[in-house]
Amino acid sequence: MQARIETLITEAELQSKVRELGETIAKDYEGKDLFVIAVLRGAIFFACDLVRHIDLPLVLDFVQISSYGEGTTSSGRAKITRELDLSIEDKDVLVVEDIADTRHTLSNLMSFLDTKKPRSVKLCALLNKESRKEVEVPLDYVGFEIENLFVVGYGLDYAQHYRNLPFVGVIRDDHGEILQ
Ligand code: IMP
Ligand code: MG
Repeated sequence: MQARIETLITEAELQSKVRELGETIAKDYEGKDLFVIAVLRGAIFFACDLVRHIDLPLVLDFVQISSYGEGTTSSGRAKITRELDLSIEDKDVLVVEDIADTRHTLSNLMSFLDTKKPRSVKLCALLNKESRKEVEVPLDYVGFEIENLFVVGYGLDYAQHYRNLPFVGVIRDDHGEILQ
């Protein structure tokens, strides 16, 4: 991949926001036994950093959800491709996601989690593209509001690449245009 990546959110900005989110979450869940669900694959970088700033007893599990191929996300059809290992029945669950775009993925995930009878479910997204929202799924914690730009890094991919960048950036193509 020869495209140029331009920084949108620096590593320092990410780390300071993640710390702030972790501390807020720790306060909100004080006295509770938190159950954190990280959504594979994109959210694992964020989730791993976030939980280290949540000074509470907590359990971490993973779920993977994928839309049925290209062009179907907006129809809202998605499937769970990796199930939770642990039971969330009667647990206070915090779902950690990399980005809220149309929110169809999150909507599907919330319905799936509801069937497992958690005591509560809240959502934490590192990034939110409010202008892209198509379904109403409340976000309880948001790291950064961003414009309608396609972003990569810190877990986010373009064709499975760039997840390992320590910052969040946009891609400029050969013509200098920012990929949307
Ligand atoms: P939604 O169902 O439209 O909210 O899509 C959410 C998923 O789409 C995220 O979990 C990401 O995997 C992917 N996605 C949405 N926007 C971006 C982006 O700008 N960069 C990388 N992945 C994205
Ligand atoms: Mg994702």
